[in-house]
Amino acid sequence: TNTMSHEAFTAAVDQGTTSSRFLIFDPTGTPRASHQVEFPQIYPHSGWIEHDPYDILNSVRLCMDKATEKFINMGYKVEDIKALGITNQRETTVVWDTVTGKPLYNAIVWPDTRTKKLVHELRKADGANRLHELSGLPLSTYPSSVKLLWLLRHVPRVRKASEEGRLAFGTVDSWLLYNLTGGVGRGVHVTDPSNASRTMFMNIHTLEYDDYLIDWFGVGKVKLPRIVASSDPDAYGLITDGPLAGLRISGCLGDQSAALVGQCAFKPGMAKNTYGTGCFLLYNTGSKPVLSKNGLLTTVAYTFKGVKGHECVYALEGSIAVAGSAVKFLRDNLGLIKQSDEVGELAAKVEDSGGVVFVTAFSGLFAPYWIDDCRGTIFGITQFTRKEHIARATIEATCFQTKAILDAMEKDSGTALHALAVDGGMSNSDVCMQLQADIMGIGVDRPAMRETTALGAAIAAGFAVGLWKNVEELSMINKDCRSTFSPRTDEASRERGFELWARAVKKAEGWID
Ligand code: G3P
Repeated sequence: TNTMSHEAFTAAVDQGTTSSRFLIFDPTGTPRASHQVEFPQIYPHSGWIEHDPYDILNSVRLCMDKATEKFINMGYKVEDIKALGITNQRETTVVWDTVTGKPLYNAIVWPDTRTKKLVHELRKADGANRLHELSGLPLSTYPSSVKLLWLLRHVPRVRKASEEGRLAFGTVDSWLLYNLTGGVGRGVHVTDPSNASRTMFMNIHTLEYDDYLIDWFGVGKVKLPRIVASSDPDAYGLITDGPLAGLRISGCLGDQSAALVGQCAFKPGMAKNTYGTGCFLLYNTGSKPVLSKNGLLTTVAYTFKGVKGHECVYALEGSIAVAGSAVKFLRDNLGLIKQSDEVGELAAKVEDSGGVVFVTAFSGLFAPYWIDDCRGTIFGITQFTRKEHIARATIEATCFQTKAILDAMEKDSGTALHALAVDGGMSNSDVCMQLQADIMGIGVDRPAMRETTALGAAIAAGFAVGLWKNVEELSMINKDCRSTFSPRTDEASRERGFELWARAVKKAEGWID
């Protein structure tokens, strides 16, 4: 018999904004088999971003099939996988018909800004001032609530399905869970609090849907997913098809929460920054929600049923709408690079951005600014400017926003971070991470294994089936070979750089289209 088969493996679906992945981890948190595919982004109009819900589902299924095949070819068995978790892009809104199980519209993706006008109108409506204290979120184009409201107002078949009581709403976790557990007539319709806290329908204090919020948005007839714990052996059901049929799903986390868990940032005061399509800094605030006075979001980090001290953990979040998507823009729209990972090299060819500041506000600016009438703008171009400067300014845009979020976090929490744990695409580049350290003035701390999002979902799932009893037992996971980047700048130059960024943000504001 194969001795390898005695190890307990965990697996995770990671459904992100631009790609889907499936990873199978060994007990040290090392991925042993994986598969990743990109899927189409649909841009019907400027500011609109959609996904076909079937592209999402099929890409996930393909990854599960391929990675499992690789795993089996290595001599393992499906039974060696003891736990399966799901993690996903958050806020992205899917609606489907409960009678047919079919979507009634494309998924509206989280950075989509079609709801800009609607949001302006809603901000003036009676009772809007209570939304933040109840949901933890500022009213913006970002949460699912406004996306669902837009669908109800603009798509007659969605409105009709709602009136007839057959409209199901879900974020991507719910859509996947529903389909992976058998779909129409059979599939579960659930979500976890880390995802539900992004809808604006959940009360951040009770972790239940809030009547005031449901009434205020007028979505009382819509079938919302039941909120269950992020780690739970019984709530999510079994996979019904494919090579993993019969495997139990036992964990579910929004991708940013999953990255926090994958970084083992379990203690209050610990934080992580994930550079994906967007970039998201989460700061663990422990068992109490902290409402921000400085433009951050309050969110549930995770709820691990039966894990002492971790039944409900909150986070303060700084969300940046555009990070990797700006690099993709340099690649696909401007043709400055052939592959995303060339951006660091290009930026390193110049000493600084040559006075160029790129406010990458493709979806307005999120935290801590929340400016929706802001468009992507490049400042400071002269005859001297080269593509290298633009590349550098593109990276710096994410770094400056991270710095602005850190400042807001320090104000809200009263404590300063000494180092920032990072992961995600852009964190692979030493140049980018050195720039981040230089702009923040604190160190950057990067793990060797940067698939922390998938790892976090696998950890959530593993807790539910008893692979670990407490977070201390995870001390062996993902601890090897971290690299650190220390700031090489002095305070005066940091302040000058940030001041230029702040001025550019002001100037980019107020663009009317
Ligand atoms: O809130 C959106 C976020 O969950 C998307 O993450 O990694 O796809 O940029 P990412």
